Amino acid sequence: MKFFIDTADLAEIKDLVATGLVDGVTTNPSLIAKSGRNFLEVVREICAVVPGPVSAEVAAVDLATMLAEGRKLAKIAPNVTVKVPLTPDGLKACRALAGEGTMVNVTLCFSAAQALLAAKAGASFISPFVGRLDDIGAPGMELIREIVTIYRQYPSLKTEVLVASVRSPLHVIEAAKMGAHVATIPPAVLRQMFAHPLTDKGLTAFLADWAKTGQSILDPDGAERKAAE
Ligand code: E4P
Repeated sequence: MKFFIDTADLAEIKDLVATGLVDGVTTNPSLIAKSGRNFLEVVREICAVVPGPVSAEVAAVDLATMLAEGRKLAKIAPNVTVKVPLTPDGLKACRALAGEGTMVNVTLCFSAAQALLAAKAGASFISPFVGRLDDIGAPGMELIREIVTIYRQYPSLKTEVLVASVRSPLHVIEAAKMGAHVATIPPAVLRQMFAHPLTDKGLTAFLADWAKTGQSILDPDGAERKAAE
């Protein structure tokens, strides 16, 4: 399963890319606004530090302008993935941009029917928003199960299920169990995934016991310690 991070905060991105666990980044207009940065500049900088796809969303809703914006964004770097909304014009833009060799992420997906349309339009990624469905009392993860099941019936479909609007590590674990290809994870949630109180407790105990041995793995004979004394 691939992990993307859902942020336009370059410092966060650099920090998490250094873990070697990040396969890509997703942004959206809200995340760009939150960053306070110039859109094109920040996308260029993210693309330079991230090894995989970086989603950058068009701001227009009409086909002609979406295409113009998408083509401009695609020129920023080879790993730009143009994000378009799941609307009729968005899917037309998806088909056209995909035909030009640009990766397209179709966003704001809330139904299996929409996901099927995006796949037929040649999307590289479909982004179902699980957290926003949960927010309205609908089971977000059920949508992932449906889409994964449908896509599996047609092995020739190349669209990857990119689980979006992730709110907790549980969303990621459930998505992995279902075989979703990608989860885009907010930095805070990715950090939560590292954490377990028993890991901290166990490590504290191991360190205390190791100190009692008086040994050093890197200086087993104490030569360096003696030389320093
Ligand atoms: C996905 O690409 C979106 O940027 C994102 O996951 C939306 O998440 P939110 O519902 O937390 O805003």
